[in-house]
Amino acid sequence: MLTANLLAKKRDGNALRDDEIRFLIEGFCDGRVADYQMSAFAMAVCVNGMSERETATLTRAMLQSGDLLPREVSGQTPRVDKHSTGGLGDKVSLILAPLLAACDVHVPMVSGRGLGLTGGTLDKLEAIPGFRTDLSEQASAAVLRQVGAFIISASERIAPADRRLYALRDVTGTVESIPLITSSILSKKLAANLDALVMDVKVGGAAFMKTLDDARALARSIENVGRAAGLPTRVLISDMDQPLGKAIGNAIEVNEAVAILESQPSDPALQGVRELTVRLCASLLTRVGVATDLDDATQRLGRALDDGSAMERFQAMVAAQGGRWTGELDVAPGRAVQAEQDGYVRHLDCQRIGSTLVSLGGGRRKLGDSIDPAVGIRMQVRIGDRVERGQPVLELHCHASRQNEYLEGLRKAVEITEDPVPPRPLFP
Ligand code: URA
Repeated sequence: MLTANLLAKKRDGNALRDDEIRFLIEGFCDGRVADYQMSAFAMAVCVNGMSERETATLTRAMLQSGDLLPREVSGQTPRVDKHSTGGLGDKVSLILAPLLAACDVHVPMVSGRGLGLTGGTLDKLEAIPGFRTDLSEQASAAVLRQVGAFIISASERIAPADRRLYALRDVTGTVESIPLITSSILSKKLAANLDALVMDVKVGGAAFMKTLDDARALARSIENVGRAAGLPTRVLISDMDQPLGKAIGNAIEVNEAVAILESQPSDPALQGVRELTVRLCASLLTRVGVATDLDDATQRLGRALDDGSAMERFQAMVAAQGGRWTGELDVAPGRAVQAEQDGYVRHLDCQRIGSTLVSLGGGRRKLGDSIDPAVGIRMQVRIGDRVERGQPVLELHCHASRQNEYLEGLRKAVEITEDPVPPRPLFP
C-alpha cells in the first residue's frame, strides 16, 4: 500500500477500507508513515469526514497501538468512567470519581491536562500539595482496590497513536473533527477496560461544539462507535455558553468541588454542578445495574453526598495518591470587577475569561507550560441575572501587582443589556 494513494483517496472524499486505516495507524507508530503524511490525513478527515465504520476502525487501531489497563483488579465490581469534551470551570470529575466509588463501582479515570481555554483535571488535582498523577500500573491498581477510584495521567502506553496524532492536530487546525474527536476520546477510554462510559458533550461558546446540531452529531458518533467497540456509552449534552459553577482556575475549582462534596449547595450555580454530576453518575449506575432506575440511582447518589461518604472517598483518594488535604487550598488575593450599568446579564465572553486565566498562568498556551495553581476567576453572575451598576460581577484572583492589567478586559466579558434575558438551561 502506498501512503500517498490512501491520502489522495481520503482527499477525494472516498471511504478507506479497514486494512487501509490500520496500515496508516500502524505505519504512523512504526515510522513508515511520516508526521507530515499523518497531518495531511487529519486534514483530509477534517474536510471530508469519515463513516461510522471508518471511525470505529480508526478507534480500534489507535487503541491497539498501546496496552489495556488490567481488569482483574476490579473482580466483579463494575468499572465505569466519564469523559467531558471540556470547558470553563468543569470540575465534575473531582466530585464524580469519589461519588461513584462511594456507590460501589470502580472508577479508573485516565485524565488529561488543560490546553488553551479548557482546564484539565490533572492540573486541578496537582494544585493539592503532593498529589501525584503519574502512578505506575501497580500503584494505580492498589489505589483502585483500596479506594475505588483513581485519577491519573495516561502512560506512554495508553493509545500512543492518539497521543502523537493529537499533538499534530493541535498545531494543524484539525482538532475540530467529529470522527477524529470520537476516535481520540474512545481509544483512550477503551484502554481502561470499562463496563460503561458516560460522555458529557458540551455545547456553546466555550466548547468545541458551538451549535446544538454539532453537539448532537458528536453525541451520536460517540454513542454508536462506543457501542460498536463493545463499550456501552451514553451521552449527555450540557451547556457551555457560561462557565460551569462559579470557580475557574485550579486551586479555586478544587475548593468549589470540595464545597459540593461537603454540603448541599444553596447557590444555583453550584447546584447546577451537583445536578450535572448526579445525572452523569446516575446514567452509569443504571447502566451497570447497581441501581434499578434513574430515581433509585439519584437517591443513592444524593445519600452518598449528604452523609459524607463521597467526601471520605475524595480524602482517601487524595491521600492514596500522595496528596495532603488540609481543608482548603490557597487562592491568590481577589479583586472585584463591577457592573458598568444596571440591567440583565446577556452574554458572558468565555473566550475572554478563559484567555485571561491562561495569561495569568492558570492555563497553558502550549504543552509543557507551567501552571500557577493559585490564580483564578470567580463568577458572581449568570446569564439572565438582574444586576445593578457597581455590583460585583466577578472576582479576579491573582497577584495584586497584576490585577489592574486585567480588570477592564474582564469587565467587557460581562455584557449587560436593559431588557430581561431568560436564564440559560444547563441541559439545552
Ligand atoms: N479530547 C480528546 O481527548 N481528544 C480530542 O480530539 C478532543 C478532546
